Amino acid sequence: MENEVIAVVLAAGKGTRMKSNKSKLVHKIYGKELVTRVVETAKKADVNEIIAVVGYKKEQVEEVLGDSVKYAYQEEMLGTGHAIMQTTKFLEGRKGKVVVLNGDVPILRPETLKNLIQKSINNKEYATLLTAIYDNPTGYGRILRDEGGNIKGIVEQKDATEEQKEIQEINAGIYCFDIQELLLALKEIRPNNAQGEYYLTDVIKIMNDKGLKTGAVIVEDNTEILGVNDRLQLEMLTRILRLRINQEHMKNGVTIEDINNTYIYDDVTIGTDTVIHPNTIIKSGVTIGEDCEIGPNAYIREGCKLANKVKVGSFVEIKKAIIGEGTKVPHLSYMGDCEIGEHTNIGCGTITCNYDGFNKSKTVIGKNSFIGSNTNLVAPVNLGDNTFVAAGSTITDDVPSDSLAIARQRQTNKEGWNKR
Ligand code: UD1
Ligand code: CA
Repeated sequence: MENEVIAVVLAAGKGTRMKSNKSKLVHKIYGKELVTRVVETAKKADVNEIIAVVGYKKEQVEEVLGDSVKYAYQEEMLGTGHAIMQTTKFLEGRKGKVVVLNGDVPILRPETLKNLIQKSINNKEYATLLTAIYDNPTGYGRILRDEGGNIKGIVEQKDATEEQKEIQEINAGIYCFDIQELLLALKEIRPNNAQGEYYLTDVIKIMNDKGLKTGAVIVEDNTEILGVNDRLQLEMLTRILRLRINQEHMKNGVTIEDINNTYIYDDVTIGTDTVIHPNTIIKSGVTIGEDCEIGPNAYIREGCKLANKVKVGSFVEIKKAIIGEGTKVPHLSYMGDCEIGEHTNIGCGTITCNYDGFNKSKTVIGKNSFIGSNTNLVAPVNLGDNTFVAAGSTITDDVPSDSLAIARQRQTNKEGWNKR
């Protein structure tokens, strides 16, 4: 096949600073493993094939990624160049580009990666680097350029001269290479440096010395290339991701009252003029219509679909709930595995008893209905349209349309009892 784009994800690292019994790469950031996010970014950037280089706790990484990628194994951590060498058998005889990504850089935007690949193809570059300008570049590899601005090579912090340490342009560790020229250059790298490692970064100079064109793309948003080394960085990146997602919804016409205390996971759709009050959590894949009002303190879990003008109020948890237009679940409810029609009111404290300890069952409520406060709906159960359930009922049988259901004990008053 001509001109493929293959991605290699470096996922062999130990991640000592996480102080964890798990591989760093299977830690979750905003509900998804670090390495899963990197693989998804590659897929969204139209990469045809992904190879993960695994090593430390490889079974954990393999369990998370399954057969969405191919695996190369790095037994000893001898450097980033050595890690890529393990993928040789997959790359031999292939034509096109190979993109290298670190498994612990989870919030890179797919568009940034696409742009890197596109620039590499358009400019006919054999290596294209993603770089960034940092106020404090300490720790990173520095980009060496000539007077004309052409990339000459990369020098690692530990190998840099005092003068080179002043350079603020850093190597993000994200590259796009010509497959065949990369394989040739890998054969030439040697571990003769301060860390005694095979540096992938040496490939740049090797290509330049051969007269092969190289280039760079400077990333616009410096936060995209941040990596996770410890749990503090894990939280920091979660925060960046959260703000990014919230801002995106706001730009699309959603009101979020408190951007710092609203937790909207990936792939959520929210319609225009919907208002989200603080401390609301909305999980992946949820769809919310226009003009809805959500929260404060609402938990909208997976599988929920809300039509327009729906209200989900405070201390309400909903899961796999399909809710019709104008319906309200205003306070203190759990509605799970249910379908509710239009313009129905779910009274305060109503819950679906959807789980019997073994199975989950469904509750269906029609349109224009009124469920009184503190009702238990014992699933499976069906309530028709235009039904009325008396407050405090425990509903175990279906309720036909247009009916009143009362399922509670009658009150007895014993007059004068309390005087005695
Ligand atoms: C690397 C770059 C540096 C760049 C920085 C960006 C090299 C020599 N240096 O440095 O220029 O600024 O990334 O973050 O490449 N890994 C393996 N096997 C190994 C070694 C590393 O899989 O043998 C993986 C690590 O798990 C990690 C990634 O490769 O995901 C980067 O390795 P790391 O040692 O962190 O590279 P840096 O020293 O940060
Ligand atoms: Ca290192």
